[in-house]
Amino acid sequence: EELGVVAVGFSGGQCKPGVDAAPSALIESGLLSQLHSELGYKLHGDDQVHLYTDLVPADDPPFRDMKNPRAVSSVTKRIADQVYTHAKEGRLVLTLGGDHSIAIGTIGGTAKAIRERLGREMAVIWVDAHADINSPESSASGNIHGMPVSFLTGLSREDNEDFFGWLRPENLISVKKLVYIGLRDVDPGEKRILRENGIKAFSMFDIDRHGIGRVMEMALGHIGTDTPIHLSFDVDALDPMWAPSTGTPVRGGLTLREGDYICECVHETGSLVAVDLVEVNPSLAPANDIGAHETVRAGCSLVRCALGEITSGSLVYERRVE
Ligand code: ARG
Ligand code: MN
Ligand code: MN
Ligand code: MN
Repeated sequence: EELGVVAVGFSGGQCKPGVDAAPSALIESGLLSQLHSELGYKLHGDDQVHLYTDLVPADDPPFRDMKNPRAVSSVTKRIADQVYTHAKEGRLVLTLGGDHSIAIGTIGGTAKAIRERLGREMAVIWVDAHADINSPESSASGNIHGMPVSFLTGLSREDNEDFFGWLRPENLISVKKLVYIGLRDVDPGEKRILRENGIKAFSMFDIDRHGIGRVMEMALGHIGTDTPIHLSFDVDALDPMWAPSTGTPVRGGLTLREGDYICECVHETGSLVAVDLVEVNPSLAPANDIGAHETVRAGCSLVRCALGEITSGSLVYERRVE
């Protein structure tokens, strides 16, 4: 199968340096070569970790209280073009972030390509401790990585091209085709947005109550069969025990196995069109470097599962040899 790879070393959607180093860390730990040699993907891309420094203006004052708004807008616009080009060719697209603001580009790009190629509206499975659906006005932080879903659903909009005005209806997704998994740190304003728009969300409470197996049945049932799926996985959905090196860790999260299972179930649908892995920050390493190494390792595992590492239940443990 053909896989488009976009490596995005961008951290402007939040304030902590280091997420920009994640794609290199993931690639150096062997992720892409495994996808090729073990899973048989033909990789497409420019073998480059994009830092987009040419798109980051020297002066980028807040706009509607958003931080680095011009940089995030122009970088995500470029990412949307890159992802669109792969998806339009019929390739599955893997984007290695970067902070979660980059999803404005990845989802914006696939949504448009899938509309044009299949005449379909795609669904998004957003796995995260956070809902990332703040509007610029509801956000307390001004960090755009807490806002991508708001722009992608059209709940927030802006006409000015320099501030996400480049997003067209074809780049957007419907709130009806959005499903969250793993939520546990949702801002009060976001809770209202989720409620008022009837957005499907499975929190950690739901996972504890029903188990991850049943939650995945319900999540995929909500989307319906035969709908193209974009999986956007924020590594902070995992418990900090498994993924400590991330900018906004929240305790009480998914086990690595639950994270892998989510990815396996999405793969199993056969409807996956794109995967994002975001918010790995190797420089935030509690307990020296072990944390960073473990987080990178967890990220690699999630991606391999989403791309089909495990297909035959009882062989799971035999195949997971490292
Ligand atoms: N809700 C908080 C905010 O709006 C945290 C968002 C964290 N997002 C993330 N992609 N890690 O700032
Ligand atoms: Mn998060
Ligand atoms: Mn907040
Ligand atoms: Mn996120």
